[in-house]
Amino acid sequence: MRKTVIAGNWKMNMTPSATKAFITELVPMVKGMDKCDIVLCVPYVDIATAVEAAKGSNIHVGAENVHFAPSGAYTGEISADMLKEIGTEYVVIGHSERRQYFGETDETVNLRTKAALAAGLKVILCLGEVKEQRLSGITDEVVAMQTKLDLAGVSAEELKNVIIAYEPVWAIGTGLTATPEQADETCGVIRKTVAALYGDKAAQDITIQYGGSMNDGNAKELLAKENVDGGLIGGASLKTEKFTVIVKAAN
Ligand code: PGA
Repeated sequence: MRKTVIAGNWKMNMTPSATKAFITELVPMVKGMDKCDIVLCVPYVDIATAVEAAKGSNIHVGAENVHFAPSGAYTGEISADMLKEIGTEYVVIGHSERRQYFGETDETVNLRTKAALAAGLKVILCLGEVKEQRLSGITDEVVAMQTKLDLAGVSAEELKNVIIAYEPVWAIGTGLTATPEQADETCGVIRKTVAALYGDKAAQDITIQYGGSMNDGNAKELLAKENVDGGLIGGASLKTEKFTVIVKAAN
């Protein structure tokens, strides 16, 4: 049985002191909810504080990006080894905001994915169609292509440390959510693509999350779908009560 993973993506929110307060509050709220993995992906400067605050709990800590080179002249960037050394377990790669605002391409997403996996990080690989692509009926082709390009050169063994987050770009931060049927169908297309690349067993085992305005009101319905194995949550991950309701829905 594949794992359900509920991951928060804080984006550019929360200072270290706010991180400490948030996690200290969250720890008792999600205690014992062990039917899903709980991850908080936080800004780089919050990671050490988050790791410390989450120690001994069922909350895991992730970063929101990573550079693909092991070290070198890349001013302002952070390597996989740096993340690993401070206790980071997961990393979000290829988020649509990175693709949209910071020139991220399937090629750099693929390089970052391979670097993160080589360093022993678990990757939350984000992909999804933009509104025009959905309206023109090419969503399936788009997500299949992204899946293939973003995973190029990733071995079957490494794939065990990959979670795919299907995030329709039109649903992110907009309050528009994919219907449970749309989410299920497109996560299914991604699973089929993984099957074609790695075989049926790998496709059955891989965790595929839905992301895009998932919240305390709609999580249950989305998570009930066969192909939806969790969520990547932005806005609703910034409030302990809302995030806890989503974790509860996954349990
Ligand atoms: P949202 O963000 O839940 O605020 O729509 C999701 C994401 O960007 O991962």
